[in-house]
Amino acid sequence: MSTFYITTPIYYTNAEPHAGHAYTTIAADVLARYHRLKGDDVFFLTGVDEHGENIQKIADQKNISPQAYCDQIASTFTTLWERLNVSYDIFLRTTSELHKSGVRKLLNTLYKTGDIYKGKYEGYYCRPCERFFTEKEQGTNRICPIHNLPLEWVEEDNYFFALSKYQDPLIKHIHENPEFIQPESRRNEMLNVLESGLEDVSISRSSVSWGIPLPFDTEHISYVWIEALSNYVTALDYAQDGEKFRKFWPADVHLMAKDIARFHALIWPAMLMAVKLPVPKKVVAHGFLTKDGEALSKTLGIFIDMDTDIGTYGLDAFRYYLLREFSFGNDGDYRPSRLDARYNADLANDLGNLLNRTLGLVSKNFGGIPEPTTAGEFDAEIQQMAREMVEKVDALMDQLVFDMALETIWEFVRRINRYIQQTQVWALAKSEETKGRMGTILYNSMEALRVVAVLISPFMPNTANRIRQQLGLDESFNDQGLDTVAEWGGLPSGLVLGKPEPIFPRKDTKKSKRTSKGRPAQAEQPADDNLISFDQFQELDLRVAEVIAAEKVPNADRLLKLQVDLGSEKRQVVAGIAAHYAPEDLIGKQIILVANLQPAKIRGIESQGMLLAAEGGKELAVATFERRMPSGAQVR
Ligand code: MSP
Repeated sequence: MSTFYITTPIYYTNAEPHAGHAYTTIAADVLARYHRLKGDDVFFLTGVDEHGENIQKIADQKNISPQAYCDQIASTFTTLWERLNVSYDIFLRTTSELHKSGVRKLLNTLYKTGDIYKGKYEGYYCRPCERFFTEKEQGTNRICPIHNLPLEWVEEDNYFFALSKYQDPLIKHIHENPEFIQPESRRNEMLNVLESGLEDVSISRSSVSWGIPLPFDTEHISYVWIEALSNYVTALDYAQDGEKFRKFWPADVHLMAKDIARFHALIWPAMLMAVKLPVPKKVVAHGFLTKDGEALSKTLGIFIDMDTDIGTYGLDAFRYYLLREFSFGNDGDYRPSRLDARYNADLANDLGNLLNRTLGLVSKNFGGIPEPTTAGEFDAEIQQMAREMVEKVDALMDQLVFDMALETIWEFVRRINRYIQQTQVWALAKSEETKGRMGTILYNSMEALRVVAVLISPFMPNTANRIRQQLGLDESFNDQGLDTVAEWGGLPSGLVLGKPEPIFPRKDTKKSKRTSKGRPAQAEQPADDNLISFDQFQELDLRVAEVIAAEKVPNADRLLKLQVDLGSEKRQVVAGIAAHYAPEDLIGKQIILVANLQPAKIRGIESQGMLLAAEGGKELAVATFERRMPSGAQVR
């Protein structure tokens, strides 16, 4: 059995968790659940990073011990993870003995290698970041780019780790293992940092007391980052060379956002190389969730109101939205209006309706699941599509391309809806002759739903369960592994269906408008008929799309038929630009696509979106970008 060890960062206990933490943790949960489905032996770590000057300061202000303060915050994390259905195997706290003993062992081992030396640190320091800035990072004005605060000059006796020694081994490792740092943009960023030279890093503080003393000089406290990174092995009982450590190290995936990629992709692997331990297989740094394009900030009141959205749409829809809407490596702007749109289109309409319709027709015309007696048109195609879907989803999940994995599943869902339409299954009840075919089509639709339920279970565990129950399947079907899921005929005929209930009842949320910052609207501004509100603008889903094919539409002078790549899917768009562009001039161009426009038929050709262009006098120009952007990135 393969093992799979996945980690989130251990989050600071300086404040309660927010949607940014939830994003990483839900993504890790999806991967953990997916690998359990594959039959892997999974270990999923999350936890909290409790030491350091910041935490001590907050506890002092609150007049409680740092430990008591951390206990309070740690429990807000575990409560949230429970609410979000996060299936972690360990919640690591850095104040635990398991961690502290592991840190002591790792630091002692590091000390013995000779890669640690004592020196004086003088430099510019950001207290909230708890780190020194190298000369290159300081810029001319010496302001921390993250906290917007002036850097402080600090002098200390510190121990150092000879990071610079690992510059070449790291470069070599990154070149030899193209998958080590993902996505590609982050890999290049790390290579740039390496090319411009690594400086040694300090690993201790003498002015801080809330932390783990260095085992070889207890006057000094371990620098919080060095201690925190160690959690990935201490949690496996590295201290005792425990069974988990031997089984799960090296980690398969360290997941985080781009803010802390350097620590994970450079410092941590160098520490491991120094103590001769294998480095993690993949370091994956995703983009940031923003609100109205701005970084989440408690002090500025920029936050994502998870409570309201989960209350309105349900947890599974929230999880679905986070992983379907954003391409994982890019920043993504969270918009309740888009969650609403995805809920109604993908969940209520595509999936919910398919289940409803199928179960309704089965209950009305058959006692239980009908026998598939009469094969016919499209059946083989659908079975083949199911097999291909499982393979494709597997490859995409391996690359952590969640949005495309979900889109692949939804292509199948939409295909089955079309199958029902094409075969006009409801009309087959009229005669006994056609009833056999009707039963077969419904059987196939239910089979498709069974396969879909299994594939979506890592993303939407509750929904998968509800589909299973409504199909009348018992819990043993939850253990259906991925290797056999697409084997057609898994559903036992004759089974009595469970109680049908809409899994995603339609919402009319348009009336309960909120302000864009997620707060309830205060006094409404008087409406001006000529203006649209920001929320109305936000309803537009504008995306970067690359033109991959273009041709003239026969007998239509103005029209071009384009195929565009949206990252997670391809679309066909008909545009009235033929008088201004030759088809070949458009190939490779990145355009702005209105991606949530209702599809329309133009001269009998389906157009799934609209591109933006400016028209002035006789001129027309398609809107493009002044530099290349990832396909599918949001435009706002
Ligand atoms: N304690 C360190 C990590 C040590 S790991 C050895 C730390 N903690 S943190 O609380 O600041 O968490 C940072 C991480 O939280 C990010 O890397 C990311 O995983 C998650 N996110 C925080 N804000 C986020 C967004 N706005 N968007 C997406 N992820 C975000 O750094």
